Parts: sequence; C-alpha cells; structure tokens
Amino acid sequence: MLSTKDSTQIQKEKKIIGALAEKVWDAKTQQYHGGQEWKFLNNFVEDFSVTTNGLGTPKHALKAAKEALNFCGHYPPGDQEPAKSDLAKWMAPAKLGLDWENVHSRMLLGNGASELIDLVTRVSPRGYWKPGPNRVQYKEYERSAIADKREVIPYSDPRPATLTCLVNPNNPTGSYMHIEELKKYIEETAVDNSVFMVDESMQIWHSNKFQLDSLISQSEWIENLYKTRKIAVYIMHSWTKIWSCTGIRLGSVLCPTAELASELKKLQVPWSVNVAALRFLEVVCSEEEEEYLNKTWELTPKWRASEIEKLRELEKSLTGESGNWKLDGEDFLSWIWIDFLDEVTAEDAAEKARQAGVPVRPGKNGYKEYTKVRIAVRSPEKVDILINAWKDLKRSQ
Ligand SMILES: Cc1ncc(COP(=O)(O)O)c(C=O)c1O
Repeated sequence: MLSTKDSTQIQKEKKIIGALAEKVWDAKTQQYHGGQEWKFLNNFVEDFSVTTNGLGTPKHALKAAKEALNFCGHYPPGDQEPAKSDLAKWMAPAKLGLDWENVHSRMLLGNGASELIDLVTRVSPRGYWKPGPNRVQYKEYERSAIADKREVIPYSDPRPATLTCLVNPNNPTGSYMHIEELKKYIEETAVDNSVFMVDESMQIWHSNKFQLDSLISQSEWIENLYKTRKIAVYIMHSWTKIWSCTGIRLGSVLCPTAELASELKKLQVPWSVNVAALRFLEVVCSEEEEEYLNKTWELTPKWRASEIEKLRELEKSLTGESGNWKLDGEDFLSWIWIDFLDEVTAEDAAEKARQAGVPVRPGKNGYKEYTKVRIAVRSPEKVDILINAWKDLKRSQ
C-alpha cells in the first residue's frame, strides 16, 4: 500500500507530465506536434513520438554540418547550391530514366517543409481548403490554410476547393495510394484552376526505387495537367524525417513548372536554409551516406514487423486475445498507428511511455483520435523499454 504522501506525489507528477504538451505549445495560437517533450523527461531514452528514421542522424552528414558552422560568419549561397543540385540528382537519377535538370528547375529548398507548405498556401488562389481523402492527416496544411484565412471544408464536401492537400503516405494513419491510384484521384477530384499539394515526405521509405511509385517520376503528367486544366500539382518533401534532422530544418518543393518555381522564389525569405543544413544535404545525397539509406530500406520493415509482433504478444497478455488492436500503416513505414479501441488504454499508454522516458504521440492531441497513439519504429532494444512500460496498461471496465 502506498502512503498518502507517496500517492499525492505520484498524482502531482502525473499532472505535471500530463501538462507537458500545454507547457510547450501555446494551444491558442500553435498546432500541437510530437517531438517536444523529450527534453523535459529526466529519464529520457528514446523519442517514439516522431516519425524520424530509427537509425538516428547519419553521422558523416552530421559531422559536415557541424564543420559548416565554422563558416557561419558568411551568408549561405543565395541559389542554395550545390546542395540543391545534389538533391535534384539524388531524387531524379538518370539510372532510373529521370531528368534531374527538369526536377532542379522546378525545385526550391526551404527551412523544413513547413516553410514551403505555408508559402504555397499563401500563393494559391482564394477559396476553400480541403484535405486528401482522410478525416485525419498531418495538421500543418490545415494550420497554414486557417492562418491564411481560408475556409476549411471536409474532403467529402462537394464544394470545389481551390487548394487541396493530400499526405501520401498519410501521416498518421499510414494509408498509401500507389502512383496510378493517386493520379486518378487528383484527376477526378481536383477542379480546374486549382492547386493540389501532395506531401511525399514518408514515401522515401517505400524502397530504393521509391521514385518510380512517386510523383517525382511524373513530370510530363504534371506538366500536362497544368497546361490543359491549370491544375497546379506541388510535391512537398520534408527531409527531416528520413535523415532524422528535425532540428536543422530541411524541406523542398517541386513546383509544376520552372516559371511557377520562379514565382515562389520571389516570395521566399532569402537564406532561409542555413549553412549547416545545406552542407548536411550535400552529404546525405552523396555516396558517403549510401549505406545509411540502404540500411534504412533493409531494417525499417524488419524492425516494424518485430515491433508489431511484440505489440500482439502484449495485447494477448493484457486482454487474453490477439488481433483486436488495430496496428495500421504500410509495412515500409517508420511508424505504427495503434488503435487500442479504448480511450483509457490510449491515455494510459501515453502516460506510461512518458514516465518510462520513451514518449509516444497521443492521437487525441490535434487529431482528436482518443483511442489511438502513434509510435515510431525503433531498434528492438528500445522497443522492449516501451513494451515493458506498457505491461500493466489500464483498460476501461
Ligand atoms: C507528413 C509531414 N510533412 C511535413 C512535415 C513538416 O516537416 P518539417 O517542417 O520538419 O520539414 C512533417 C512533420 O512532422 C510531416 O509529418
């Protein structure tokens, strides 16, 4: 039996931990995001609340970024080179039959994808904003739309949206449209003279030929859609997840045409990508980090499958059953979207994970998914800590 003093202390601690999200985010003005609580946990071990690469930050690129700070007495290059060319060559390699120069002419780098999401939102024609075919998706697009004083309508609303934003694969649900299905969806749902942003940040995990199932390989189709119907497809990439560098901020956008890229450049704040981030990008796109990416494509699905197995064992030990919890998302992804089908369990899972120094992303924050949490794919030893923290998860009666 705990003494009254002990149990009061525990209650107090629980309250403080529960209030962490409010401490970091100004809920009145900012959108909740994972990845902020780790530094408040004095027993922090691993961040399961973000979808970053479980292999951690690539070390050659990190070293180069640190060294680049020796030149912080100078401005970064105004043309974002050579990092921009390196990224274009990496994204559209000739060996896959892609034209990197075309991609380069349509590209802008940004201070994280967030900067570019906001920029494209502001240049899009006035009118309704709609998400892709999901009630739940990464919230930054909606936040930018609301900040730009747009009226937000549900994806199923028949009113024509001048700006549609689709996240593929969808974060957090993990659902994914293959390229032909995605193109068909755009052709059928976008209205003429509108903007369609597609976020492919998480698509990189697909395979070492991710480009072939991505809009990156569809330059002609994009050009044609713009010419014939004035539907402007912008492809958004956050590079902070695949290369686990959320702190240095790196994103890119591929505009439908080089002319539209110039229009966007006119409005972009200069030097928004700093010297460390540019140098980091050069190295991740080089042969030096080829092994890191090969390991990512090889290990992530294996780690994910083993994480799912451990969750199923846990479910069985807690409920006596297996297979009821929904563990969603494509096999290649860097996270699992868990539906415990029980609010009490989801709440307790977030709480116990924090207390064990392995924070997860509660579905209730922002997404209003009260029975769900999102957890990152991590190495088996780290996963064991999370599973152990969950061994006595509460259930509603
Ligand atoms: C799908 C998706 N797109 C874009 C972003 C924005 O990332 P950043 O601004 O760090 O590049 C995120 C971050 O969580 C994301 O999950």
